[in-house]
Amino acid sequence: MLRTDLTLSMRLSTDFCTSGLIPRALGILGVTDEATDKTVTMQKTAAPKTSAKPKISSKNVCVFYGEKQALFDVSLDIPEHAVTALIGPSGCGKSTYLRCINRMNDVIDIARVTGKIELDGVDIYDPSIDVVELRARVGMVFQKPNPFPKSIFENVAYGPRIHGLTRDKTDLEELVVTSLKRASLFDEVKDRLDDPGTSLSGGQQQRLCIARAIATQPEVILMDEPASALDPIATARIEELIDELRQNYTILIVTHSMQQAARVSQKTAFFHLGHLVEHGDTDQIFTNPKDQRTQDYITGRFG
Ligand SMILES: Nc1ncnc2c1ncn2[C@@H]1O[C@H](COP(=O)(O)OP(=O)(O)OP(=O)(O)O)[C@@H](O)[C@H]1O
Ligand SMILES: [Mg+2]
Repeated sequence: MLRTDLTLSMRLSTDFCTSGLIPRALGILGVTDEATDKTVTMQKTAAPKTSAKPKISSKNVCVFYGEKQALFDVSLDIPEHAVTALIGPSGCGKSTYLRCINRMNDVIDIARVTGKIELDGVDIYDPSIDVVELRARVGMVFQKPNPFPKSIFENVAYGPRIHGLTRDKTDLEELVVTSLKRASLFDEVKDRLDDPGTSLSGGQQQRLCIARAIATQPEVILMDEPASALDPIATARIEELIDELRQNYTILIVTHSMQQAARVSQKTAFFHLGHLVEHGDTDQIFTNPKDQRTQDYITGRFG
């Protein structure tokens, strides 16, 4: 993956210098993945209109781990039913920002969050907020697939059961099947729902984790490098899935892959050293970045 990114970076860099052809280099967006010599032809769709009220609005968000400040005054609006990619060099605060949105930083003793984050206009750090309910509305998929040590069925049924989302067994079974179908996994597992989740391949486990996240019927899905441990074929499937899911969900994805950000997102936010340097339509960020640091990053000069 890294090699692929570097290849793209070098290509972008050359094009930048010679003819400013970043849009063509990204093919907006039939990017050739040279690792597999396979062309991913996902059609890039237009960025959503910005007039709509944001699904998530963050204002002056700062995060401290003990004395150390990891995020500085991050103000970012996330539109509904779109994919927003968070990019930037390692340690710049992408995961920290993502964890603010479902209050996962609450579980880190030394973490302290200031500023404001609203979900549909409601302050999620208000003391009246039920964090368990918030995390059902804002699901998360991690870098490493982490199925529970339970059956495939139970992995997906667990959330709806603890949140009381279904009336009876039939209802629950229906929800599990629907979630597995939406995660494009059902056909591969329909005859082995009682097998352990951990018996699946890495790519299947990640789709199981996505099915598990979907099953609680969230409105927002946070994905922290969801495909970084997967091969190019499994990655392409996850990316197609993300594109389908955005019809119904608001998605934030952290990725180190420029190609992936360009392929799957409509909006991109570039972080550097804990600061949100620039955000906007993905096409604009990759073709006409306003900040030199963004340009340097996407052309592979650092990070
Ligand atoms: N639990 C923690 N305790 C202390 N410091 C932390 C903790 N988690 C993150 N940090 C620090 O906060 C900063 C931002 O980290 P974060 O994990 O958000 O970066 P990132 O952009 O996700 O990096 P990567 O791309 O490597 O995943 C880093 O300096 C990191 O060391
Ligand atoms: Mg991270």
